[in-house]
Amino acid sequence: MENKQTNFLVYLIAIIAALGGLLFGYDTGVISGALLFIKDQWALSAYMEGLVVSSVLIGAVVGAACSGKITDFLGRKIVIIVTAVIFFAGSIATACAINPLLLIFSRIAIGIAIGIASYSVPLYISEISPNNIRGALVSLNQLAITIGILSSYFIDRYFASFEHGWRYMFLIGIVPSLILGIGMLCLSDTPRWLISKNKIDEAKKVLSKINPGENLDSIIAEVKQSIEQSTESSFRNLFVENMKVPLIIGIGFMFFQQLTGINTVIYYAPKIFQMAGFASAKAAITATVAVGIVNVLFTVVSIRLIDKIGRKPLLYFGLSGMVISLAFLGFAFSPLFAFGIYLKWLAIASVICYIASFAISLGPIAWLIISEIYPTKIRGLAMSVATVCNWGFNFIVGFSFPSLLKNLGPSGTFWLFSVLSICGLLFCYLFVPETKGVELEEIPELLNQKFKKLFN
Ligand code: BGC
Repeated sequence: MENKQTNFLVYLIAIIAALGGLLFGYDTGVISGALLFIKDQWALSAYMEGLVVSSVLIGAVVGAACSGKITDFLGRKIVIIVTAVIFFAGSIATACAINPLLLIFSRIAIGIAIGIASYSVPLYISEISPNNIRGALVSLNQLAITIGILSSYFIDRYFASFEHGWRYMFLIGIVPSLILGIGMLCLSDTPRWLISKNKIDEAKKVLSKINPGENLDSIIAEVKQSIEQSTESSFRNLFVENMKVPLIIGIGFMFFQQLTGINTVIYYAPKIFQMAGFASAKAAITATVAVGIVNVLFTVVSIRLIDKIGRKPLLYFGLSGMVISLAFLGFAFSPLFAFGIYLKWLAIASVICYIASFAISLGPIAWLIISEIYPTKIRGLAMSVATVCNWGFNFIVGFSFPSLLKNLGPSGTFWLFSVLSICGLLFCYLFVPETKGVELEEIPELLNQKFKKLFN
């Protein structure tokens, strides 16, 4: 009974924090629908259009780059509250923008909040979670991202017929940001951060709620010991000997999460479906909604499995699915094979399998692993570095996709992503530790052992 109540409490805390993920998904997804109307209202040039879309990515890189140390010094809670305020103000500013320049600045502000939320939310959840359900709790953040993306499609559709509908599309963002801000004000910071700042009584209070019946003094002693061994949060300390492998793993995960093409599907799905033969825009958009639904559903599947079968089997299974479905997508578009009217069905089946495979593996697990592998004192800074890379790689793929299509053709492009997924498999085999059920404090030692095995 007590266990159930505790689980309910930690799930509730994780859901409140995961609203940051919802805003991440919503604010990246909303632009595709809004852009159609903004373009008409201000007769945007292709250059300005590109800026309106990519301003969020620029903001995200800046936000993640500038906040890591602050998260370690001022705490996880305060940083998430600040993102809620930026999301709130940014939503109003984008909705009220009177010219394209103001819109771009407001989208940069929203991007800053997205960049900060994308790592501080998994970080917060990871540090409050009991080991046996940490994978599921942190992955609620990814679930919220996928729900945010999906709801942006529906909200865009709903407001499409309104006069100045695009303004309402942006304005809706104030609702989750308000709940996030107020919710976080009512929660305390994570016990691990509190212990790192010697606020032991406060940490004890939190621990007694999320770990009732356990020996709190021994938990605190263990966390304290690992904090004493942990490197201080500074840029120089990111490059010390025992940070090398965790840093490579974090950046590597973000490389493979983005360079295996996820956002070409998320951002360009209607275009892919139109190329495959779904002639009407309506059919292409319906197929895109199907992609969003599969993304949500398979993230739920991942959440249910992640603490039972572990991170690595899911990664192997999901990445293999990505390799195969991307190879098929390449075949579907290849001029060497004449699929005729079956092309579009082969394309949609491949894209759906691809999304399902991503959603059970690289989607949630990349964010989960980076919240687990770094020592407490430098966790915020190290996660922010991996996050900057995530947004940087995201930008590179989004930017180069149209030219890749032009130069390599759709087949060549998807085959390239398929080969990169094979490299991702190899990366997971060589570098990724199984962290299922392991205490956060023990993970650095686990990595140490793996590292020794790898290079000896
Ligand atoms: C990725 C995003 C992607 C989303 C799709 C996230 O984990 O970081 O780039 O758009 O998953 O569900």
